Amino acid sequence: MSLKELFKKHKSDKYNHGYHLIYEPYLKNLKQKKLNILEIGVSDGASIKAWSDYFKNSNIIGIDIKKIDLKKRKLNRKKISIYQGSQSDKEFIKFLINKYKKFDIIIDDGSHIPSDVIKSFNLLFDALSNKGIYFVEDTQTSYNHFFGGNPFDLKYANTQVNYFKKLSDSVNFQEIANPFYIKSKYDGLIRNISFFNNMIVIVKDKINFNSNLLINNSYENKRYLTKIKRNNKRKMQYFIKYMIIFKSYTLFLYIFNFFKKILLFRF
Ligand SMILES: C[S@@+](CC[C@H](N)C(=O)[O-])C[C@H]1O[C@@H](n2cnc3c(N)ncnc32)[C@H](O)[C@@H]1O
Repeated sequence: MSLKELFKKHKSDKYNHGYHLIYEPYLKNLKQKKLNILEIGVSDGASIKAWSDYFKNSNIIGIDIKKIDLKKRKLNRKKISIYQGSQSDKEFIKFLINKYKKFDIIIDDGSHIPSDVIKSFNLLFDALSNKGIYFVEDTQTSYNHFFGGNPFDLKYANTQVNYFKKLSDSVNFQEIANPFYIKSKYDGLIRNISFFNNMIVIVKDKINFNSNLLINNSYENKRYLTKIKRNNKRKMQYFIKYMIIFKSYTLFLYIFNFFKKILLFRF
C-alpha cells in the first residue's frame, strides 16, 4: 500500500494535509529497509500504525507527552515502541538516544511550538544517521502568534522556519568569503533543506565539496595562490593586490558589519 492509502486507512490527518505527497518520494526506496524510525507526537496512533504498515522491517518508536493507552489505540505490535516524555526534555531525549543509538528517519509531529521544534532538532541531530531524514510537520505555527510564532516580524522572528532558513547557510558554508567565519556543528553535515507548504525536510549527509572560489573561507588566498601558480614572476604584484588591498577591503567590511550588527541588535 502507498502512504496515501495507509494515512487514509488509519485516519491520520497527514492524509488531509496531503503530506504523503511530500513523504512518499523521500521514503519509497527505504520501504524494505531495517530502520529506526522516531515519530514525535503519537496521539491516537494513526500515523504510527501507518508507518508500521509501510516499513514492515523497521522499528517504529513513538514519543508523546501524554500517556498513550497501547491496547486502546491498538499499538501493541511487535515492532512498535511508545514512550511518554517531552520532545524538549533533554534527559528524556538522551535516554532515547542511549537506547536506540541512531535514528534513520525522524518525524516531528509533536507540540509544533517553535522553541520545542528547534530544541528537539538540536538534541536529536547527532543521533540522526548519515543520510538520515528529518521531517518537521505543521510549520504554519511559525506564522501564528497563537502557537508561539510571529507573523509581524517574519524575517527576524525566533521561529522554526527562520531557524531552518538560517541553517541553510550550513549547506553552503564553504562558500562564505569571511576568513573569520566560525564553523557551526551542522556545517558539512547537511545535504539539503527543503521547504514545502507547512513542512520542512532536512537530509543529513557528510559533504566535503571544495569551493571553486575560496580556500578556507578566503577569496584573497585562493586568488593569490592561483595567480602565482600561473605566473610566479609577478608574485609581488599579486601579493600587493590580493594579500594587502583585497584583504584590507575584506577587513573593512568585516568591521563595518560587526558594528552594524551591534547597532541593530542582531546578535
Ligand atoms: C498532531 S498530534 C500527533 C498526531 C500523529 N502523529 C498522527 O499523525 O496521527 C500531536 C501530539 O503531540 C503530543 N505533544 C504535544 N506536546 C508534546 C511534547 N512537548 N513532546 C512530545 N509530544 C507532545 C500531543 O500530546 C499530541 O498527541
